[in-house]
Amino acid sequence: QACLWFRNLKRRLPGPFAWPVVGNALQLGQMPHITFSKLAKKYGDVFQIRLGCRDIVVLNGDRVIREALVQHSSEFAGRPNFVSFQVVSGGRSLTFMNYSKRWRMHRKLAQTTIRAFSSANSQTKKAFEQQITAEATELVEIFLKLSSQGQYFNPAHEVTVAAANVICALCFGRRYGHDDVEFRALLHQMDQFGQTVGAGSLVDVMPWLQFFPNPVRTTFRNFKRLNQEFFTFVKSKVDEHRETFDPEITRDMSDAVIRGISEADVELTDDYTESTVTDLIGAGMDTVSTALHWIVLLLAKHPDIQRKLHELIDRVVGRDRLPSVEDRPHMPYLDAFIYETMRFTSFVPVTIPHSTTSDVSVNGLSIPKDTVVFVNQFSVNHDPLIWRDPQVFDPSRFIDESGSLDRDLTNNVLIFSAGKRRCIGDQVAKVEIFLFFAILLHQCSFEKCPDQDFSLNYSYGLTLKPWDYRVTAKLRGNLLKQA
Ligand code: HEM
Repeated sequence: QACLWFRNLKRRLPGPFAWPVVGNALQLGQMPHITFSKLAKKYGDVFQIRLGCRDIVVLNGDRVIREALVQHSSEFAGRPNFVSFQVVSGGRSLTFMNYSKRWRMHRKLAQTTIRAFSSANSQTKKAFEQQITAEATELVEIFLKLSSQGQYFNPAHEVTVAAANVICALCFGRRYGHDDVEFRALLHQMDQFGQTVGAGSLVDVMPWLQFFPNPVRTTFRNFKRLNQEFFTFVKSKVDEHRETFDPEITRDMSDAVIRGISEADVELTDDYTESTVTDLIGAGMDTVSTALHWIVLLLAKHPDIQRKLHELIDRVVGRDRLPSVEDRPHMPYLDAFIYETMRFTSFVPVTIPHSTTSDVSVNGLSIPKDTVVFVNQFSVNHDPLIWRDPQVFDPSRFIDESGSLDRDLTNNVLIFSAGKRRCIGDQVAKVEIFLFFAILLHQCSFEKCPDQDFSLNYSYGLTLKPWDYRVTAKLRGNLLKQA
């Protein structure tokens, strides 16, 4: 206790008093990102908390976060040595690995692979868009089936399968049926992934909780199991690719990673292949599906906005064909709706925890090497100095006087993070979300369940998951298929 008192006295940064053993864990509450924003009002945008055995610096607000992640990008590019991080992607995860020469090579390989299959050449770009269109039209049919007798359904699981199928098609060259029981079960488990790696997860700051029966130990055991099963699934597909690999043909991302690793420095051994593919699938699935889930709920919650979107899409696209990426510049209000969904929900409220790679100073305050850092993206997206009425959902805030998308304002939305650890799938994600959204909107109208309080509550984790809200979908005009 005396030691803790001394530590509290000695602390370099402002922050709330930390209790022995638990520190500030009990103060975090159900929604740590909101607690952090409140604490920032009291202690400033850079403050310190203690969780279990770890001192943690929390960064809030646009100016401070960009100063840290962009101006001091290398100093903030580390990841802490959390127990949960060692379990992901066979222990060789690019996302959860600390900053090093090997990590830089690994990230570059993953970036090159994503680019090659999304934007680098017009043929793969077109194939990617066709894959999304096929998945989106199937999702429309499933939604209509689930609503056939006017029933209300929870779209969560179907959007997860659809998003997983897009990334599986990119990585393995194949998709899975919405009724594939094994695939659904695997994805269902992965839903819980974010509960353990989100900022504030207790097992990482109180690792001793693993050693006696308690709810944290149970959650962590489930987390280990689901990661093992997911990794085994991906590895079996990558092994099939190894057996049939032809250096003359790159069929999909798995082939591209196999080739990339075979040509890489000794730092990246063969077993990094399955880890890279696991990372890409994991990162690309949960985030995109959560975005789509929120979009459907927000459409149902705001019928006036939905009507305006329907009028726009009918005017630009008409009723005889499906929307495509080429329509995007002519429908800025659709992008405005997507940006507002990302801002308003901030569905990745706090980035994956960072750590400092050397002593560094931010906002005039010194932070020592190896400090765990939480980056509160929510605080930027709800800052009243940047956003008028931040708690109000209003896509038109992103449309300027000339009717175009206000790029200065969209750049203020922080959901893909910034700096050296910035998401590498942001462009892929934006195309995917746009096409799914445009096709769902073109083909369906969504209504909320009248018996349900639609206040859009959610559970906290790496991504914010809406509670069990139900909607119904109605077909608008004819059911269209890809040409
Ligand atoms: C990392 C957001 C989609 C691949 C991240 C991080 C965030 C994020 C917040 C952590 C950054 C940090 O720790 O500072 C999102 C959102 C998405 C999305 C909101 C969709 C709406 C994707 C997709 C892919 C992807 C589609 C791949 C196909 C990755 C990878 C990392 C990452 C590999 C780890 C980067 C690193 O640690 O160096 N993403 N992401 N993400 N994302 Fe995304």
